[in-house]
This record gives sequence, C-alpha cells and structure tokens, in this order.
Amino acid sequence: MDTPKNILTSTHLDKLASESWVLVENAFPRETLDHLLSLFQKEGPDFRPAKVGAANQEQQESSIRGDAIRWLSSDRDSHKSILDQLEQLKKELREGLRVSLDDFECHLAVYPPGAGYNEHIDQSPQRSLNTTRRVYSFVLYLNESWTSDQGGQLVLRLPHSTEVILPHWNRLVIFSSTDLPHRVEKSYSPRRSLTGWMRRCSNPFHGESAR
Ligand code: OGA
Ligand code: MN
Repeated sequence: MDTPKNILTSTHLDKLASESWVLVENAFPRETLDHLLSLFQKEGPDFRPAKVGAANQEQQESSIRGDAIRWLSSDRDSHKSILDQLEQLKKELREGLRVSLDDFECHLAVYPPGAGYNEHIDQSPQRSLNTTRRVYSFVLYLNESWTSDQGGQLVLRLPHSTEVILPHWNRLVIFSSTDLPHRVEKSYSPRRSLTGWMRRCSNPFHGESAR
C-alpha cells in the first residue's frame, strides 16, 4: 500500500492544541470512505447496540445512546487498510502535539432514525491512573448530502461557546476526550460514522503500541 498522505496541516494541529477540538474537511481519500461504507453493508449483522459506562460496568441504555456499533480489529483483513490510516493519524497527533499516544480503538457506528446520544465526556477523570486512558476522540462522518433537517448534529460544549457540527461526508472531528462535554442530537435518517479514541497507557509494564 502507498504511504498514507498527511491528514492534518499545522493549522489543524495548532487549533487542536489551543482549543481542544478541530474539524478536518475532506480528511481521507474517497476509496477509504467507500471501503468503510462497504463494511456497513457486509458486516451489518455484526453490529450490536452500544453500551454506556466504564469498561467493567457497561450497560445497554438506549435512552442515553441509541447507536449500534461494530469494533474494528487488526485480525480482520478488511479492516487493515483503515487501521493503517488511523495509525498515520495517531503519528501525526503524537509528533505534531508532542503527546504520548500508545494505541487506539475504533468502531463503526450507525444511529438509526430516532437515536441520539445524551451529553457525556468520553474519558472520566476519576478512573485509576494505572489504566489505558482516552486522550483524543475522533469521528469521521460517512453521510452523503446530509442536511440540518436530518438532525444528528454533534454538539460540543466549549468553555465559552457551543459548536454544532453536521455529520457531513468525509468530515473528521477531533477533540479532547477528557474535557469536552458533547452530545449527538436525535437523528432522523440513518447516521453513519467511524468513531475512535487515541489512547495513552499509563501502566509502565505496557509495551509499544498494540497495533
Ligand atoms: C461517541 C460520540 C459523537 C458523534 O461515540 O462517544 O460522542 O458525533 N460520538 O458520533
Ligand atoms: Mn462521545
């Protein structure tokens, strides 16, 4: 495979560093998005209702979040090219922001009509230090010609303002997992995305990147 092209410019990195969030338009090549969409078709039966809560206390709660998800795995040949590109994104974040990131996790998500996700933070500050923690959240939207009457906006609550982001095709949003409350407004059409988290492992016995 060709070496993936840079996804982020220095302007993106500066904005993420100073404001804890950034939007990247036309983030990935068309083939990548087409391939992701094909996974929704092929792996439809493997989607499961998403859960809420810390890893050891997860519960399904469709009144809090209504999406169905499918985790990507390096064991699956059909997931590898996507994971390679996210590895590249991790590298750019690590080098561009000089933060330590060890690995990432990501899933495909579809919000059926009527589903949303109540306000939350992706990484609770109370979890023990000796675990893997989410540092940056990223969401790549896969919805062609989405309009605001279809709902599904991502609402980021920033310290002095609120950002409302439509889930447009090939739009990537990256934000701090630890300090940005956000929610997904009810969607009126199936809303597809790839969602993931760049993570840091604070356990000194954890080796290099898992992927
Ligand atoms: C999440 C989330 C945002 C989105 O899955 O934790 O906040 O826009 N998703 O899909
Ligand atoms: Mn979230």
